[in-house]
Amino acid sequence: MDQKWLFASSKHPNPTPAADIAAAIENPGFGTVFSDHMITVQWTEAQGWHDARLEDRKPFQIDPAAAVLHYAQEIFEGLKAYQLADGTVALFRPEQNARRFIKSAERLAMAPVPESLFLQAVETLVRSEKAWIPGGEGSLYIRPFQFASETFLGVRPSHKYTFCVIASPVGPYFKGGQKAITVWSTDTYTRASAGGTGSAKCGGNYANSLLAQAEASQNGCDQVVFLDAAEHRWIEELGGMNIFFVLDDGALVTPPLAGTILPGITRSSVIELVREEGGTVHERPYSFPEWQADCQSGRVKEAFACGTAAVISAIGKVRYPGGEFVIGDGDSGATTKRIHSLLTGIQRGKIADTHGWVHRVA
Ligand code: PLP
Ligand code: COI
Repeated sequence: MDQKWLFASSKHPNPTPAADIAAAIENPGFGTVFSDHMITVQWTEAQGWHDARLEDRKPFQIDPAAAVLHYAQEIFEGLKAYQLADGTVALFRPEQNARRFIKSAERLAMAPVPESLFLQAVETLVRSEKAWIPGGEGSLYIRPFQFASETFLGVRPSHKYTFCVIASPVGPYFKGGQKAITVWSTDTYTRASAGGTGSAKCGGNYANSLLAQAEASQNGCDQVVFLDAAEHRWIEELGGMNIFFVLDDGALVTPPLAGTILPGITRSSVIELVREEGGTVHERPYSFPEWQADCQSGRVKEAFACGTAAVISAIGKVRYPGGEFVIGDGDSGATTKRIHSLLTGIQRGKIADTHGWVHRVA
């Protein structure tokens, strides 16, 4: 049987009044509004995971010599809690996040959070913060993360970790909502290389992507589409999402999981759903020149980005130093829209969940 974890729970000294919560979740944007509580759990070599708490969300007391502040031993996850039509609250495949969190911990030489602790921490916080889940297209974004909390400047794996879970009511990740996004292909920066941390969800990968993302913004683009580090030719993924291409024969193409891209839970769900319907998905290397030629010839009709934050977001245009090309008619296409409805329909309990992916918590 799964281990049962007890979370010591303390009363919030100054809880947000219901009317203020309602106003805060009406149009929350992404990542700016936070709920009242958080989960914290500590790890030491002597005690393992201990001191699990559900407490009010407040700043950490952290020593200036804490290892995370110097060597970036930090990992995180992202998943959403949805308000379903029948009044219940559900998560989508949270055990997949728990397993990926363990893999990320192993890659960053950190003590892994057991799957049972990860799931019970997320469920406990979601039950506590139910009032913060927006209706309509919104959701409560759950951010579990873990960092090296030992006060030590030597370079070796930390002997102390903190695991924390916070919650943030969110709307669409992109300001344009459902409008197709434009992506930037940089010829200067790469995201990950063989043997590196590309398949782990660690903060360092995102720090590394920020300058390329700034270059994208300067060029009027929403996200960076990263190419491989060795040949600078093969499409990998976006800064915070995986990528799919829709061909004129209806087949989908997506880059393979070769160690340099994040194994997205949305990506694997899309592959499974499309294959189950009898559709074809090729997980194969796909190059930037091939993409450009296929858009010009009409072989590629659509492309979309996918991830927890981005859901399914159509890509309408690609810019690179010296040029740009349009995908299909530059708008969200029929296949992208259909996959978006199917996935969100299952996540929100409007379409039957035949896979056991919808995990009810409250
Ligand atoms: N790739 C990167 C770099 C990401 O940050 C994310 C978001 O978590 C994804 C892909 C998509 O992963 P998921 O579908 O599990 O959210
Ligand atoms: C997520 O989709 O959960 C991510 O972590 C990606 C980030 C762009 C917010």
